[in-house]
Amino acid sequence: MRMKKQVAELIQQHGTPLFILDHKKLRRNYRTFKKNLSRVQCYYAVKANTHPEIIKTLFLEGSSFDVASYNEFMQVYEYIKHFEEKDQESFIWDKIIFSNTIKDRETLSKIKKYRPLVTFDNSDELKKIKACCNTAGLILRLKVPDTGSQVEMSSKFGAEPGDADYLIRLAHDAGLVVEGLSFHVGSQCTNFDNYTAAFAITSEILNDARAKGYGLNIVDIGGGFPVPYDAQVPEFEELAGLINSECKRLFPADVEIIAEPGRFLAATAATLITEIIGKSRRDGKIFYYINDGVYHTFSGVIFDHWIPNFTAFKNGEKEVCAVVGQTCDSFDKISQSVQLPGNLGIGDYLLTENIGAYSIASSTNFNGFDGAKIIHTNLNR
Ligand SMILES: Cc1ncc(COP(=O)(O)O)c(C=O)c1O
Repeated sequence: MRMKKQVAELIQQHGTPLFILDHKKLRRNYRTFKKNLSRVQCYYAVKANTHPEIIKTLFLEGSSFDVASYNEFMQVYEYIKHFEEKDQESFIWDKIIFSNTIKDRETLSKIKKYRPLVTFDNSDELKKIKACCNTAGLILRLKVPDTGSQVEMSSKFGAEPGDADYLIRLAHDAGLVVEGLSFHVGSQCTNFDNYTAAFAITSEILNDARAKGYGLNIVDIGGGFPVPYDAQVPEFEELAGLINSECKRLFPADVEIIAEPGRFLAATAATLITEIIGKSRRDGKIFYYINDGVYHTFSGVIFDHWIPNFTAFKNGEKEVCAVVGQTCDSFDKISQSVQLPGNLGIGDYLLTENIGAYSIASSTNFNGFDGAKIIHTNLNR
C-alpha cells in the first residue's frame, strides 16, 4: 500500500501515533443503523468511545446515549441540556439510559434529581435504588445467550429469566416502576441465534407482566451489532431484517424499542497510524516495536479480545512478524503473528483500521507514555 498523500500530510503535521476520527463515517454508521432499524431509538453506548466530539456528532444526528457512570452521565447531560425543551418531563429518558446494572449509592443519590432511566438485575440493587434514587424509572436486564460473541456479558450481568416475575413484583411493592426489559447478546455478536433467543425470552416475560397489569412498554435490545472487521462477519442488514420481523411479530406497537450500539457506530470511524521505533529478530521472527501498545490505543486487544489489523505503506516480501508495544512490559504484545513485509525499518509507518471502539476509551498512561494524538476529519458542523 502506498501512503496516500492525505495521510502523509497528517503525519507531517501531527506526528505519530495518530488517531484519526472520521465523522463522516460516524454519521454514515448512525444513518445505516437508523435506516435499517427505523423502529429502534439509538442510544449510543458512550463507553465504546467517550470522545466529546463523537457525542456531539451523534446527538446532532438524533442519537440518544447509554451511560455507565456518573461522569459519563454528566458528560452527556452537560452537552445536551442546552437542547432541552422546557417542561418536557421525558427529556432525560428520551436522551439517556444509565445501563450499568450496578451503581453505587453515591451515584444513585447524585442522579436522583434527573429522574433517570436505570437498569437493574437483582434485589439488592432494587433496595439501593429505592433508598437513594426513587425517582428513577427501571429497566430489568435479563440474562440471555451470548454464545460465540467476542465479549460475553451474561456471566456477569442479567437476571435469570425465571426471576423476572419476582423482581418486577418486588420493585412494584417497593413503589418503584419497571418500565421495560433489556438484554445484551454479547459484544460483536455474529451468532444471530442469540438475538432470536433473547427476543423469545423477553417477549414471554413482557407479555406475562403486561397480562398481570404491570405497564412495561420499553424493550432495550442492547448492543452487540457486529462490525465488519473481516469478510466472515455476517451483514448488518441481515440482522436488522431479523430484528425488525421479531419486533413486529412479538411486541405490540405501543412498545418502544431502543438499542445501545457502541462498537457498530464507533469502530470503523477511526484509523491509527503508528511508527516503527525498534526492530529485532527473535528466534527467527521479526519483532516490530511501535510507538503505541496494549496499555494505550491497542487496549482493546486485552479488554475487548480484539484482533487488530496492520498495513504497511511499503511493499516487500511478507513474513510472519510480531508487532509489540513501546512499554518495558513483556505483556505489551499487540500481535504475535501478522503478515508484514520483512524489510520495514525504524521510521516506517503502520496503519490500523477500525480502531474507533474500545481503544482510546480504555487506554492508560502506563510507563508515562502519552496516548495517540486525536484528530478529527469531516466534522462539517
Ligand atoms: C450495557 C451495555 N450496553 C451496550 C454496550 C455496547 O455494546 P456494543 O459495543 O457491543 O454495541 C455495552 C458494552 O459493553 C454494554 O455493557
